[in-house]
Amino acid sequence: METKLIQIEDFENITDDMLLEAAGIIQGGGLVAFPTETVYGLGANALDEEAAKKIYAAKGRPSDNPLIAHIASIEELAPLVAEVPEAGRKLAKAYWPGPLTLVFPKSEKVPYGTTGGLETVAVRMPSHPLARKLIALSGVPIAAPSANLSGRPSPTRAEHVWQDMNGRIEMVIDGGAVCIGVESTIVDVSGEVPTLLRPGAITLEMLKDTIGGVEIDPAILGPLGEDIKPKAPGMKYRHYAPKAELVLVEGRESEVMNPESSNIIAEINRLAAERLQQGYQVGILCTDETRDCYPQGTIRSLGRRDSEQDVAHNLFALLREFDDLAVDYIFSESFPQNHLGQAIMNRLMKAAGYHIIKI
Ligand code: TXA
Ligand code: MG
Repeated sequence: METKLIQIEDFENITDDMLLEAAGIIQGGGLVAFPTETVYGLGANALDEEAAKKIYAAKGRPSDNPLIAHIASIEELAPLVAEVPEAGRKLAKAYWPGPLTLVFPKSEKVPYGTTGGLETVAVRMPSHPLARKLIALSGVPIAAPSANLSGRPSPTRAEHVWQDMNGRIEMVIDGGAVCIGVESTIVDVSGEVPTLLRPGAITLEMLKDTIGGVEIDPAILGPLGEDIKPKAPGMKYRHYAPKAELVLVEGRESEVMNPESSNIIAEINRLAAERLQQGYQVGILCTDETRDCYPQGTIRSLGRRDSEQDVAHNLFALLREFDDLAVDYIFSESFPQNHLGQAIMNRLMKAAGYHIIKI
């Protein structure tokens, strides 16, 4: 299949005719990749089971992994859900449009092909003007997983989408680099107690401020044992996996902030030296404050350590860059797990297959 690439840069002045062809593809059951504020999405008509099947095929994704239905206005929620529990109403009011996905009991209108056979449906109203315009013009909710091949880091730029999806889908809309860089927060509001299924830019602290109690799905916190089944089926797969073996080195924050005497930096340098001596290519993921402390290997900074926003924004792009450079090992610094740091560490730990060295 020939994949068409269109470019839209001025989001404030998007006219209907810029997106008519894309909306036509969605209406016709085809696939269009488009930017959202979190990561690029691979969109199809969420109410069309055949279109949903094409998403799974293009991504090489297991079909028990449900899709998020994206809407452009709050009126579009009611037809998709059986009810809107109080917590869901409050969270939608506080954070939509934005990087929050809510899981509701589904209505009959939503096919099982979209929900991976579940009785619930995940819904998100993105804030990106291009995404909103595309959904509104298509006139249907758009099912959109991240627009990467299954198992690869989520795409934060159109180039990443092109690498993975060229020849597999009808169209890619290039809207430049996304803003946030990690996927939306997911909260299940379909049960008794609202449960955080995936951390993101709407942080646990923000959720608690809005609705009080929030449970955390154990799958977020550590490797899945025999007895832990994640409520978000996607969280069980080794997502965001770079081709190299990624190892996280974790210790007290004050350690990293004193580069001269840091045992964390010393350990990363020791690991890097060992692998380099064995003839492997080594990448190091660090921060602006520490980058000068690493004498060998391919060094990439995630940005300033005190800016979680920078780190989240750069994370997936750098993991992809290391793929392109074909490094064999990546040694990475860790981050405090509060606020956006929870999402950053969740993605890093999953990418590392929970291979963490504690200092
Ligand atoms: O930021 C985002 O959410 C991006 C952009 C494109 O909007 N989309 C995204 O989709 O990250 P995806 O498919 O890569 O991740 C969706 C996650 C998966 O872990 C899936 O298991 C979970 O949402 N999910 C979807 N429907 C669910 C449901 N009914 N119950 C529990 N988890 C669900
Ligand atoms: Mg994904």
